Amino acid sequence: MGKPIYYSDKFLNSSLEKLKEIISVKFSERQPLCFLHSFGCQQNVSDGEKIKEMLSRAGYGFTDAAENADLIIYNTCAVRENAEDRVFGAIGNLKHLKEYRPDTIIGICGCMAQQEKICEKIRSTYRQVDIVFGTYAYKDLFDMLCDVLDKRKRVFNISENSDELCEELTQLRDDKVKASVPIMYGCNNFCTYCIVPYVRGRERSREFTAVVSEVKELVKQGYKEIMLLGQNVNSYSFGFSNLLREIDKIDGHFRVRFMSSHPKDASYELIDTIIESKHISKQLHLPVQAGSDRILSLMNRRYTVSDYMKIINYAREKYPDFCFSTDIIVGFPGESYEEFLMTKKLLKEVGYYNVFSFVYSKRTGTKAALMVDNISDKEKGQWLRELLLEQRETAQRINDKFLGITKEILVDGFSTSHPEYLCGKTDEGIIVEFKGDKCLIGEFINVKITKSMNWALLGELA
Ligand code: SAH
Ligand code: SF4
Ligand code: F3S
Repeated sequence: MGKPIYYSDKFLNSSLEKLKEIISVKFSERQPLCFLHSFGCQQNVSDGEKIKEMLSRAGYGFTDAAENADLIIYNTCAVRENAEDRVFGAIGNLKHLKEYRPDTIIGICGCMAQQEKICEKIRSTYRQVDIVFGTYAYKDLFDMLCDVLDKRKRVFNISENSDELCEELTQLRDDKVKASVPIMYGCNNFCTYCIVPYVRGRERSREFTAVVSEVKELVKQGYKEIMLLGQNVNSYSFGFSNLLREIDKIDGHFRVRFMSSHPKDASYELIDTIIESKHISKQLHLPVQAGSDRILSLMNRRYTVSDYMKIINYAREKYPDFCFSTDIIVGFPGESYEEFLMTKKLLKEVGYYNVFSFVYSKRTGTKAALMVDNISDKEKGQWLRELLLEQRETAQRINDKFLGITKEILVDGFSTSHPEYLCGKTDEGIIVEFKGDKCLIGEFINVKITKSMNWALLGELA
């Protein structure tokens, strides 16, 4: 358990004042604009919102168009190779922009930037990038910007410093209905395929009271869904079930969700807490990764399929409609087709509402990168398709159960597939599309389910 050090606004202000001064000289006629895009998981998006909060304190406004921005920041993800490829593509595209707008400052931060080899590659090959900073360096943002703006220096800051957490800094949230709240940072689990512990350091938990007050404040502001975040919320230092129970005492009409939960630490107490609560969705994202004990052991997941099923069965015995979603990796080094079929079988047995499946991607520096990977990309692709097909059938079976039933949903916005429809989510996290007035966005409403598809439900206002 890392010991958090809370640094205050006062600490941030010293370089903030300097930055504001530089900005007022450089942008005397107009407000400087920033374009920030976060790749990757919700934790990264939440970091991006913290960066935006800092920038807005310094006087920056925000734009959705990179070509209009004075500062472009890509907050990156390193979890799979294709995530990194996407970022390099995006940085490559900025070369021309920098040529005709040489004053634009380009920053790369987040998980990918935290890796030394990536930082070096950007330093030597992507000269258009001015700032590279890792997952520990947000607190230095004002200093870094001062250096770039004032001295036109390129800045590279990927030093590791995992004892600091910034409690004083809120997130500049774009969404007015759903808010994510990180409760811890980093990961201690070292699953053999995963880069996260290397780029985000050891676990650091936020203070219990700080988290509870933040949620209280968000509910007061009218937020309807709070998503608690951590790589493994079950190892929250001050007791995750305790935290949930405390948050559940907050008055108001809101939902609480969280992710992710490592199955090795998911306890009966956690399930009981969810079931007994008023606000917590009766749903759990419990990434299983694989359905064979041999592969789970090679992955260093530290549970067996039977341990995993105990939690699922316990929850379903106490609350038959309890929903689960999961993450799956297909094609882990040495995985046989028979072992893959065990994953497929597990999927059917559990009946997940949602499955996020990924083809194994080799991450240099992890233990699995040293294992012999003799499955071809073509085979891995086939397995993935097979799995998706299986899940489509399961999802259809599950969604059919809702036909004719009235469900409470939280309305998110317009449907992307049918723009004349609104869409929302049930407590289980299933998408429901329906016709209604846009004033319903952000509200809880009851919808009668009239049609079921394998990816969503259709309904009408009840
Ligand atoms: N901390 C979370 C996972 C974060 S990464 C947890 O343990 O549940 C999200 C998902 O990405 C993982 O659950 C895993 O399924 C997938 N993933 C991680 N590393 C991967 C890799 N090298 N190749 C393919 N998928 C990977
Ligand atoms: Fe990666 Fe495992 Fe940590 Fe999740 S628990 S972030 S999969 S090492
Ligand atoms: Fe998240 Fe990707 Fe980093 S999944 S923790 S942004 S490597």
